[in-house]
Amino acid sequence: MKILAIESSCDETAAAVTQGREVLSSVVLSQADMHAIYGGVVPEIASRNHITAISRLAQAAVDQAGIEKEELDAIAVTYAPGLIGALLVGVNFAKGAAMALGIPLIPVHHVRGHIAANYIAFPQLEPPFVCLAISGGNTAIVDVRGYTDMSIIGTTHDDAAGECFDKAARVLGLPYPGGVPLQNLAKDGDDGAFDLPHAKIQGHPYDMSFSGLKTAVVNIVHNARQKGEALDEAGLAASFQRAVSETLVPRTMAAAESLGYDTVVVAGGVAANVRIRADFERACEKSGRKLFVPPLKLCGDNAAMIGCQGYYEYMAGARAGMELNAYANMDIDKVVF
Ligand code: KG4
Repeated sequence: MKILAIESSCDETAAAVTQGREVLSSVVLSQADMHAIYGGVVPEIASRNHITAISRLAQAAVDQAGIEKEELDAIAVTYAPGLIGALLVGVNFAKGAAMALGIPLIPVHHVRGHIAANYIAFPQLEPPFVCLAISGGNTAIVDVRGYTDMSIIGTTHDDAAGECFDKAARVLGLPYPGGVPLQNLAKDGDDGAFDLPHAKIQGHPYDMSFSGLKTAVVNIVHNARQKGEALDEAGLAASFQRAVSETLVPRTMAAAESLGYDTVVVAGGVAANVRIRADFERACEKSGRKLFVPPLKLCGDNAAMIGCQGYYEYMAGARAGMELNAYANMDIDKVVF
């Protein structure tokens, strides 16, 4: 079954043609450069750019798959969560395409899509497993019982991990998105140079908070600047990465232990981080668990992951009508459309 998948939840416009877990084509147009001068994504700019790009990207995905659009069997689209105006562009395009071609429309939850990026990369991977989904807008430890049966068992009470990377990078004068520049700065830094907060949420062992960490980095940088003191920026970046990793990795491992799962999966843009990947490798080796982390091109937003998850949603009976709406927020387990 050939699915045309559409993704437009944030600042990447993406289209792909997939067949089960196989990717026949995948095109991604990042708007990151257009948002960089503002230091973050401007929703209105994101929506406008999705509108100008989406038709051509969808056509390019069909062409690169070597098929005619009449050979498509369904359209899958990210409908939640994300920037509402940005999501609406993809949803309305997908509705039009499904209606014009007379084929089913499959709504896909964005974070479920990030998890499914691992099914593309690792043909042997099957639920159940615990997945840490870490991106610019989401941070969640997910109990993945089945392809469409999952629930969040731990989440952030404030900032997402990626957002925290972006804000810490910004105060250090690094470009947006800040994950990779901050990781590069941290390369030669001492991760013990600064003692940064590792917040715990009482009574919620798998939950997280990153706002205190973000504020601590902002205060260290501002204090040094106000006093005219030299700042060990590499040390601060390395200590920051360590604090994020030491928040994410032990909680995910503890969740895997308590659920009795032998498999740990990481997904989302922040899964590209070398420190977090290395810490997961060590933790999984120590506890005898299998670890799956997607290759870099499948960590960030793309439509192939939406097509792959769309296939499993379709098999589970998910179909949307022309009344499909977009939602800025949507629980991973209470999927409504
Ligand atoms: O999954 P994604 O492309 O978009 C969302 O769905 O949010 O994730 C983007 C986020 C940004 O915050 C970016 O700074 C972060 O992923 N990111 C990284 C790295 N590469 C991207 N964070 C830390 N280390 C990286 N290497």
